[in-house]
Amino acid sequence: MGMLKDKHVTLYVTGSIAAYKSALLTRLLIKAGAQVQVVMTAAATDFVTPLTFQTLSKRPVLTDLFTATEGDPIKHITVADWTDIALVAPATANILAKMAQGLADDAASSTLIATAAPKFVAPAMNKNMWANPATQRNVQQLRADGVLVIDPAEGFLAEGYSGSGRLAEPATIVAALEAYLQDHTPQPLRGKQVLVTAGGTREAIDPVRYVGNKSSGKMGYALARAARDLGAEVTLISSASLTTPHNVDLVPVVSAAEMETAVNTYFGASDITLMAAAVADFRPEAIVDHKIKKQDDTSTLDLHLVRTPDILAGLGKQKRADQFLLGFAAETNDLLQNVQKKLVAKGADMIVANDVSDTAIGFNSDANRVTLLKRDAEPEQLAMASKDEIAREILLRVCQQLHLA
Ligand code: PMT
Repeated sequence: MGMLKDKHVTLYVTGSIAAYKSALLTRLLIKAGAQVQVVMTAAATDFVTPLTFQTLSKRPVLTDLFTATEGDPIKHITVADWTDIALVAPATANILAKMAQGLADDAASSTLIATAAPKFVAPAMNKNMWANPATQRNVQQLRADGVLVIDPAEGFLAEGYSGSGRLAEPATIVAALEAYLQDHTPQPLRGKQVLVTAGGTREAIDPVRYVGNKSSGKMGYALARAARDLGAEVTLISSASLTTPHNVDLVPVVSAAEMETAVNTYFGASDITLMAAAVADFRPEAIVDHKIKKQDDTSTLDLHLVRTPDILAGLGKQKRADQFLLGFAAETNDLLQNVQKKLVAKGADMIVANDVSDTAIGFNSDANRVTLLKRDAEPEQLAMASKDEIAREILLRVCQQLHLA
């Protein structure tokens, strides 16, 4: 999941009644984070207008070879080169035949033949057209050429009867693309257990009040998603309230003490532990068991705070040689010397120092700027980027350190 993010998908819509379903398909692809370029055959434009797809994809639709678009006289080559994945949906018997033969007599077939990227076809046609030996021969040829076929489903056809030839559901098509990308993306963390902590812990004062901090959990969740996309099994121990990423095991906690218990439960099985949580350093000594009432005769309230356990330092002490431990530090650049000392003192293998002097980055923002501190190496500053990109960069550095391909 999440593999379609920022991918360039060229969606070929050909002349079938199922062309209307391609509008929903376009929306699902965009929702999954893809950029979508639609190419239509002349027949497809009889079923749905290019304007529909232009509006949904926010890109002009390619419909013919000879109208130069935006000063680009070889638009079909530009689109072919731009493509990460080509998807023909719905694919008629005609386009399957043309692709199998290598014909290039319109914008769709010419762009397809110029495309080096992986190609998917999702056929949709009458059941007899689908069963026809010529169609089956063409599909066989396409499979042999490496084209991926998303088989049509059995079901009610536009002709008014049931049979095979119905376009696969848009969600099924998107899932097929995601699964392909998952299998074809290098996954250096495959087989590894990754433990991530995220969010600011909340230390109760009474049943309705707490001492907290500004951490949203966004950095930790980005790390969990990035580790998952690199193939890891991920456990996320979180005190934040963000959407749980797909295929990530969530362990919700509230306080530093709960986080420590959860971390200790999962740490033994973890290959890589990433402590992105902003764990409170202090908690109220005792939790009052009822809501503290305002006293009319006093204008102050004394809170006596005591230290919480330093979870990271505790892990540093129990860590085995085959485990990798990464901590975060909310610092400014001139304090890097101190962070380097912290790295050794806390027994971590890497510390990610956030520059929290700038409010556009760090706590609760979508972007971050970090410096990576490793043992026996110069600090490495990463350029400001989204937390998702920073998370991926951090994990790729961890893979490098662990010599994971
Ligand atoms: O959640 P976001 O809004 O995305 O913001 C999180 C962040 C971008 C600021 C994040 O990247 C970050 O820096 N998180 C840790 C901030 C922090 O608590 O720094 P610290 O210097 O207090 O702690 C240093 C390290 O020790 C951290 O790895 C922390 O998890 C750990 N620690 C701290 C205190 C404690 N009692 N136990 C701990 O394990």
